[in-house]
Amino acid sequence: MTVRIFLLCGIAAVLILGCGDSVPPAVITGKPVVDGKTGLIVRNLDSEQIQRGEAVYRANCTGCHGSNGEATPDWRKPNLDGKYPPPPLDSSAHAWHHSTEVLKKTILKGTPPEIGSMPSWEGKLTEQQVDDVVVWIKSLWSDEIYDLWYKNFEGK
Ligand code: HEC
Repeated sequence: MTVRIFLLCGIAAVLILGCGDSVPPAVITGKPVVDGKTGLIVRNLDSEQIQRGEAVYRANCTGCHGSNGEATPDWRKPNLDGKYPPPPLDSSAHAWHHSTEVLKKTILKGTPPEIGSMPSWEGKLTEQQVDDVVVWIKSLWSDEIYDLWYKNFEGK
């Protein structure tokens, strides 16, 4: 009898511990980690990828979007040709209103010349480089903005 109870407890413990919180959730389920103090999603970006993305950015994007994605203060005012100047990519504009897919597509395809002057990077950057630079852009956002972005696009 006692043995049986032990066995049952053992099985229950394996089930609970095996599937429960004792295993880091990011590894098993891909669920985001929430900061216990702020309640915000903790960014789980790969630091090597951020560094690679920064290098891609510095080589190709700073001239228009600023050295840290801050662009120009007047980015909301259209130029004389009606097109808009490059917007910031940090928290201050609307890069974070877009999903990862849309950000990638914008970088790969650019904007049609009659609408805007974001160049197309297809054939110039590899898909990996585009992924890397998108991660670097995400690393610029504030914790609050990343949390909002994540809940809008990844956390559904
Ligand atoms: C020649 C200037 C120029 C260069 C170089 C450039 N961009 Fe842009 N980018 C723009 C402009 C202008 C826009 C806004 C386009 C529009 O008004 O539709 C833009 C828009 C974007 C957007 C969309 C932002 C949003 O809020 O929706 C992203 C993301 C972006 N660029 C990333 C990059 C990355 C990454 C690089 C480097 C690989 C790069 N850009 C290089 C001019 C540039």
